Amino acid sequence: MRKLIAGMKISVDGKMEGPAGTADWVAAWSDDYGIMPQVDACLLGGGMYPGYEKYWTSLQNEPDKPAWITGAAPTPAEIEWARFAARTPHYVLSKTLASAHWPQTSFVRGLEEVAALKKRQPGKDIYLVGGARTTASLIEAGLVDELRLIVYPLLAGEGKALFATTGRRRGFELREARQLPGGRVSLIYGIG
Ligand SMILES: NC(=O)c1ccc[n+]([C@@H]2O[C@H](COP(=O)([O-])OP(=O)(O)OC[C@H]3O[C@@H](n4cnc5c(N)ncnc54)[C@H](OP(=O)(O)O)[C@@H]3O)[C@@H](O)[C@H]2O)c1
Repeated sequence: MRKLIAGMKISVDGKMEGPAGTADWVAAWSDDYGIMPQVDACLLGGGMYPGYEKYWTSLQNEPDKPAWITGAAPTPAEIEWARFAARTPHYVLSKTLASAHWPQTSFVRGLEEVAALKKRQPGKDIYLVGGARTTASLIEAGLVDELRLIVYPLLAGEGKALFATTGRRRGFELREARQLPGGRVSLIYGIG
């Protein structure tokens, strides 16, 4: 069975974005989880997919221009992810979205199709890119095997919490804790 691995960048108070709808404390949307070598597919929620596609398309087409979320020139690691995204199948969990601009994007309509994706072989692991509602609902459904968090050193205050929709208690197994530059902490949890 392929593993489904979620990765999210959050504040100390568990927010995955601020009141303006972006995590403006994140300087670059690179793969800081070290996940690229072990995955060959990405899964995303319908809420975040249009913005994700727009962001990485602009980096692919205009790598010298400031990126629209960060307002800064893309980092080499972001360019690397843009190239990886362009050649990697993306699956969007949505009952309402029907089309995407990327030829490598297709749609899954519910939890059974996500479970089927994990069973589809051969294949490496699958990266669950977000957003919050999708990550929380797939963890609740028992479909996520690992949660990788990068915790930024701030209280975001107002904003959307990663687990705002989760009502049930659940224990995780800490597999790795590592300090990153800029006061960030990388945490890897196994989900039993
Ligand atoms: N901080 C970070 O690391 C990070 C990472 C990724 C994203 N984000 C942010 O997250 C935000 C988006 O998160 P979000 O919570 O609003 O939306 P989301 O999780 O991307 O998408 C929610 C949508 O996904 C579909 N969905 C979710 N669970 C489903 C299920 N069990 N069955 C069927 N469909 C399901 C539904 O789409 P339909 O209504 O179409 O069926 C639902 O409306 C963006 O603003 C993005 O910037 C932050």
